[in-house]
Amino acid sequence: MTDIKKDESIVKWKVSFTMGVVMIDNEHKAIFAAMKDVEKAILEKDYEGCVNRLSETLEIIKLHFKNEETLLRKFNYPTEDYDEHVAYHNELLLKARSVMALCEEKAADKDVGKCFRGMIKFLVDDIIVGDLNFKKFLKDKGLIEAST
Ligand SMILES: [Fe+2]
Ligand SMILES: [Fe+2]
Repeated sequence: MTDIKKDESIVKWKVSFTMGVVMIDNEHKAIFAAMKDVEKAILEKDYEGCVNRLSETLEIIKLHFKNEETLLRKFNYPTEDYDEHVAYHNELLLKARSVMALCEEKAADKDVGKCFRGMIKFLVDDIIVGDLNFKKFLKDKGLIEAST
């Protein structure tokens, strides 16, 4: 048994994740949509499909991280926070590759499920939280609307 369930997706986009920067928001939504497809493949035990979807997802994520890191530098995000956030980005790429490796070797369902769940938790708890800290930074500098 995998610990991800058919009727309860763990990949959930929340309005509270909205940054107020259109490009970032669209990219985040695309990442969540792609992750949902990966989750679906895992639930269907379509591990080959999972590998293909994950490799597509990785491209979307890599492009997003590149765009976001450019933006962080453009707005002079403090070096310490920047470095920490880039480290989170790199960690997510590692986690995604771990899920991919488990699918490639057709590991036990529960191991794939656990690894996938860990990756999504990290995406929400660290990456999105980190992005929201950047949102606060932009707001404080008056670079985005206070209401978003
Ligand atoms: Fe980020
Ligand atoms: Fe992001």
